[in-house]
Amino acid sequence: MDIIQVDHLYKKYSVKQQREGLIGGIKDLIKPIWNEKEAVKHINFCVKKGETVGYIGPNGSGKSTTIKMLTGILTPSSGKIIVNGLEPYKERKKNAVNIGVVFGQRTQLWWDLAIRESLELFKYIYRVPDKVFRENRDKMVELLKLDEFYSTPVRQLSLGQRMRAEIAAAFLHSPSIVFLDEPTIGLDVVAKEQVRKFLREINKEKETTIILTTHDMDDIEQVCDRLLMINDGVIIFDGKMKSFIDAYGNERIITVQFEEPIANIDIDYGDVLSIEENKVKILFQKEKISATQIVQNMSQKYPVVDCHLEEPKIEFLIRQVYEGRELNGNDKIFASR
Ligand SMILES: Nc1ncnc2c1ncn2[C@@H]1O[C@H](COP(=O)(O)OP(=O)(O)OP(=O)(O)O)[C@@H](O)[C@H]1O
Ligand SMILES: [Mg+2]
Repeated sequence: MDIIQVDHLYKKYSVKQQREGLIGGIKDLIKPIWNEKEAVKHINFCVKKGETVGYIGPNGSGKSTTIKMLTGILTPSSGKIIVNGLEPYKERKKNAVNIGVVFGQRTQLWWDLAIRESLELFKYIYRVPDKVFRENRDKMVELLKLDEFYSTPVRQLSLGQRMRAEIAAAFLHSPSIVFLDEPTIGLDVVAKEQVRKFLREINKEKETTIILTTHDMDDIEQVCDRLLMINDGVIIFDGKMKSFIDAYGNERIITVQFEEPIANIDIDYGDVLSIEENKVKILFQKEKISATQIVQNMSQKYPVVDCHLEEPKIEFLIRQVYEGRELNGNDKIFASR
């Protein structure tokens, strides 16, 4: 069953052009010039109940605009969305009962209230029955490790603590779908790991549909089975996460720093991208060799002092999609080759 249907969804914003100087400013006031910005360009996709969908794309590609339309915050310029049988922007209140939302960039909690009180307030707003509330609250407190700061006012929480509380609030009323727009932004590795683990577990246990936008490919890889990739308002990839990673996401770049400058290096497990004095940059396939093995291997020849591993950037993955390697199965690549 499709829990979300998106049909030729299109959104344009009207943006006021800003003229230069004082006179320009006055003209802007008297006779403003409006430009149109197409943020989402006729996209189509469906999501089934229980799916975990990673929605990725570079800055300004239209992810948040899509999420805002799916949650009913924005109305599409044209096209149609059905979420849980409702058009979200027409029936915003009804839709809100079925969904949970986390915007990493802004808080939904009350600054002066402790998490305990915020959750009580959400219980009241969403009319969560006592038993369900107790069960969900206890689960969140345990899985998201909220107990250390459960009675602390939100304004005194660290970013990672606050984000865990935001996530608890979004899942409290047992929504069938949760939209998370960059929930791991600014979090350290430990906090990111807690969030990912929680999302995996809750999806498995409650079959909650999860739509996650992020710039961190590891979030997507660890939480999502399916990947939707958007570039400049157009969906360019829709398919299984695994086949995407197999085709595009296997490459890693490691920079190894030696004690002494080296002139040349000969390896058969990757491509040497550059050598600069005592630093060598290597492109390798992570399924064939691990970064640790590379460092071990190199340190047998030259003393290694440091190393740095780069995850593939979303822009790099998008370029690869455009360059178009073949994928297996039914995954769709929409990018023109
Ligand atoms: N309220 C607005 N008014 C005018 N233009 C907007 C508005 N919100 C977004 N845009 C424009 O629409 C485009 C898509 O923005 P959107 O916020 O959806 O991108 P995004 O994929 O979420 O980017 P990011 O990764 O930076 O969060 C951008 O060009 C942006 O400048
Ligand atoms: Mg965004």
